[in-house]
Amino acid sequence: MESGEDMNQGGMGDMMDHGNVPSLLSSEGTNELPIPPLLEKQQGQDYDYEVIAQEGITEFFKGISTETYGYNGDLLGPTLKIEEGKSVDVKITNELDESTTFHWHGLEVASEIDGGPSDEIQPGESRIVTLQADQPAATLWYHPHVHEMTAEQVYRGLSGMLLIDSSNSEDSTIPNKYGVNDIPLIFQDRLFDEDKQLDYDNLMDEDGTLGDISMINGTLNSKLTITEPIMRFRLLNGSNARNYTFSLSNGASFTQIASDGSLLDEPVEVEELILAASERAEILIDFSKLTSEESLALVNDEGVELLPFDVELDASTADSTEMWTTEEPFLSQEEKEMPVEKNIELFGMMDMVTINGKKFDPNRIDLRQKQGVTEVWEVYNKKDMMGGMIHPFHVHGTQFKVISRDGKEVTPREQGLKDSVLVNPGEKVKLLVTFPEKGVYVFHCHILEHEDGGMMGQIEVY
Ligand code: C2O
Ligand code: CU
Ligand code: CU
Repeated sequence: MESGEDMNQGGMGDMMDHGNVPSLLSSEGTNELPIPPLLEKQQGQDYDYEVIAQEGITEFFKGISTETYGYNGDLLGPTLKIEEGKSVDVKITNELDESTTFHWHGLEVASEIDGGPSDEIQPGESRIVTLQADQPAATLWYHPHVHEMTAEQVYRGLSGMLLIDSSNSEDSTIPNKYGVNDIPLIFQDRLFDEDKQLDYDNLMDEDGTLGDISMINGTLNSKLTITEPIMRFRLLNGSNARNYTFSLSNGASFTQIASDGSLLDEPVEVEELILAASERAEILIDFSKLTSEESLALVNDEGVELLPFDVELDASTADSTEMWTTEEPFLSQEEKEMPVEKNIELFGMMDMVTINGKKFDPNRIDLRQKQGVTEVWEVYNKKDMMGGMIHPFHVHGTQFKVISRDGKEVTPREQGLKDSVLVNPGEKVKLLVTFPEKGVYVFHCHILEHEDGGMMGQIEVY
């Protein structure tokens, strides 16, 4: 096994450079993909749900115990589903030996409950937070955000899905049977040490720790048995740094229906989908046209079978999903012509990463914006002598729209709400940003080692 350092090709100048190196296959046999359980409602308590950050033991490799972190379990966390427009009270408890935070990535909540770096919960402490889902149905997630420890805590296993669900209120025909035809897929890559431990201090890479083994929903070598013709997958790139390019092994197209924070304006047929760290997409795959001899898998751009499918359709099952188109254009003419109000410059690599030339300082406010007022941000990924690398830019407390990339209007697959955006080296991406709540929020690169390295700033919404 190579060390993380050798595998890191970041900074070589190619836009696809970072995170596409190792083979991502492990030698273990295949496992049926586990589905994270839905978080169950508490009975007779003064809160609805409970999420506990704790230590655990996971058997990734037969007979070997690996020390991990999890929420309410050994690794990763249960899926928290909130109905669109509703709010839930969640008791958050830290049973780790170190402080943590509970960040609801993509949820437009008040900054006091956002779980950013200033919201540390000490070991043994609990708090009840009210999560209000006043935003469209979407695939969000939750993870820790302690400054300088985010990367390690996520690496050890702290992440879970947070779904805003509208299937009760709408007569939607999009598949929505959780775990049956609506499947969460948390993609992560992991590097294990010789003892098959996730010894982060020794494995970490300042430009983003890359693993040589693929993990989906916390499991190596998974496969998925398909019993329904049209399947919805909610893809989350939950890796610390790797960019994933997904496609189908037979080259067929599939349908992207959602971005990070909403359905797309209209579903788009795509043959390939790239997700930088923290980005999500929802896709539909139609298995009904496959002949029984054909095999199919979700692969990466090197043809590695990340998720092979075992298709066992009952011949009689027919299904259809009604597609939609949105009448209004994604951006109005007025929105397209708005002047740039904020310039954000992403720069550097290793421990030299900065935003607008500065490293994170919890005592400094970098930007200010008025609550409810829409502004255009221009995010520039400035190249360095090495060419630079992709930085996924994320903003807390808002779901934004991507207006353009280097002046060109974005493709339909980015025409949905987003909270993280992949910015290529040398590229300028314009965003339309509105904050519904007041408070102080962070914005940062979602390569977690860059975030921990200070590639983060604060905005005060007043
Ligand atoms: Cu995924 Cu600042 O968070
Ligand atoms: Cu976030
Ligand atoms: Cu970065």
